[in-house]
Amino acid sequence: MGKIKTVYICSQCGATFPTWSGRCASCGSWNTLTEEIKTKSQAKKERGKSSYNRPIPITKASIEEKQERLSTGIKTLDEALGGGIVPGQVILISGEPGIGKSTLLLQVSSNISAYKKVLYITGEESVHQVYLRGQRIGAVSENLHILSETELNSILHIIKDFKPDFVIVDSVQTLYSADLESAPGSVSQVREVSSKLTEIAKITNIPVIIVGQVTKEGSIAGPKVLEHVVDTVAQFEGERGHAYRVLKIVKNRFGASGEIAVFSMEEKGLKEVEDPSSFFLSERPEGKSGSIIFPFTEGAKPVLVEVQALVSKTVYAVPQRKTQGFDINRLSILIAIIEKEIGIFLKDKDIFVNVVGGVSIKEPAVDLPVALAIISSIIDKPVPSNLTAFGEIGLTGEIRSVYYTEHRIKEAKKFGFDKIIVPYSTEVEDKSLIKVKNIQEAVSYLR
Ligand SMILES: Nc1ncnc2c1ncn2[C@@H]1O[C@H](COP(=O)(O)OP(=O)(O)O)[C@@H](O)[C@H]1O
Ligand SMILES: [Mg+2]
Repeated sequence: MGKIKTVYICSQCGATFPTWSGRCASCGSWNTLTEEIKTKSQAKKERGKSSYNRPIPITKASIEEKQERLSTGIKTLDEALGGGIVPGQVILISGEPGIGKSTLLLQVSSNISAYKKVLYITGEESVHQVYLRGQRIGAVSENLHILSETELNSILHIIKDFKPDFVIVDSVQTLYSADLESAPGSVSQVREVSSKLTEIAKITNIPVIIVGQVTKEGSIAGPKVLEHVVDTVAQFEGERGHAYRVLKIVKNRFGASGEIAVFSMEEKGLKEVEDPSSFFLSERPEGKSGSIIFPFTEGAKPVLVEVQALVSKTVYAVPQRKTQGFDINRLSILIAIIEKEIGIFLKDKDIFVNVVGGVSIKEPAVDLPVALAIISSIIDKPVPSNLTAFGEIGLTGEIRSVYYTEHRIKEAKKFGFDKIIVPYSTEVEDKSLIKVKNIQEAVSYLR
C-alpha cells in the first residue's frame, strides 16, 4: 500500500491542497474541502501515463474521426447527442435522485440490446430491482446483461472479459477502487472510478454511460470533478411531481452543446416529446396576466417555453422572492431595473418567477421575458397571445443582443407568433420583429 498522506480535495473543482481552509483557493467555493487519505503508491501512479498517441497530419485526421454512431433507439436523444453515440465515448448523465436516470438508461440499454451486447452495472439497486423496472417499462431482452458490483477493479476485469458493446454504470458514487482508502462517493474515488472507466472506454472503444447523482445541497462529491474527465455531460432536469423531464447536453466533444431532449415520465417509462414547443404551448393558460412565451435555446434547437411571474402584496416585513428555473440573484437585479426604469415600487411586493416544465434557464436572453411577465402581473394585463420576446437587459435598462437570434425567430414564427420583441441591434429583417432599445419601449407593447 505504501505510505499514507492526507490531502484536502475541493468537491466542486477537484483541486487538491496540503492543508484545510474554509475557501477553495482554486474555484473560490466555501466549505468544499474534504479530507482524504491517499497512499504514496497511488499518488505516484497518477502521474504516469501508460500509452502515447502519435502525432498525425491534420489532413489525415478526418479519416480517424469517421466512425459509425450507435443509435440509442430514441430519436431526440440521438439528435441531442449529435447523431448517436461514438465508439469509446464516455457520457455522464447527472441529475437529482428520482428524476429518471436509471429509467432512461434501462430503456436505452434495452433498445441497444436489440442488436448489441449490453452490460448494465448497477451499484445502487439489486439485480431484482432492475428486473422489476425492466418488466414495468418493457425492457427485458436476452442481450441485456445486469451486473450488481461496486468494486472498480472487478468491474474493469469483467468488462475486458465479457466484451460488451455498450456499458452503463449506475452510479459512479456507489463504485469504489480497493486501491484507495477513501469511501465510495468521495472526490478521489469518483475521480479514480471515472478516469479508469474512461481509460477502458478509450482502449476498448466501448462507449460507457456513467450516472452521477447530485443533491440539491451538492453534498455528494462529484459531477464537477467528473465533467473534466468525460467526453459528454448531460444534465437531467425536471420538477418533482411533474411529468416533464429535460435532458440538456452541457458539454460534448462529439457534437454541439446546448442541445436538449424533452421527455414525459409515464408508467411505461420515459416517452420522448418530439415537438416540445407545441407540448409546452398546449398547457399555457389563456388570457392570464403574468405569462409569456420565450424562445429558449442554448444550441441549434430552440424550444418555446412559458415563463410565469406572480406579483402580490406582501404580508411580511421582507418581501419574498422565489424562482424556479431562473437565477434568484438575476431576479433581484431585474427588480431593481424595473423599479428604476419603469418607476414601479416593488419593495412591498412578493415576486415569484417560474419557468414551466422544469427547464432551468441560465442564458441571459430570458431577462426580457421575465421582466415582461413581472410587469404583466403587476398591471394585471395579459401579454398578447401572439407576442413573444427575448433579449438581455443591461443595468441601465437597455436591451442587449443575444445568441441564436435567427433560430429563435424561426421557431416563434413557426408557432404563429407575429409580434416578436427583439434587441434593437438584431440584424434580421422581418415584419414580425419589434426592435426595442430599452425596457420602457418593450413595456409599451404590453399596455
Ligand atoms: N410505477 C410507476 N409509474 C410511473 N412512474 C414511476 C413509477 N415508478 C417510478 N416512477 C417514476 O420513476 C422515477 C424514478 O426513476 P429512476 O429512474 O429510478 O430515477 P433515478 O435513477 O434518477 O434516481 C420516480 O421519481 C417516478 O417519477
Ligand atoms: Mg437510479
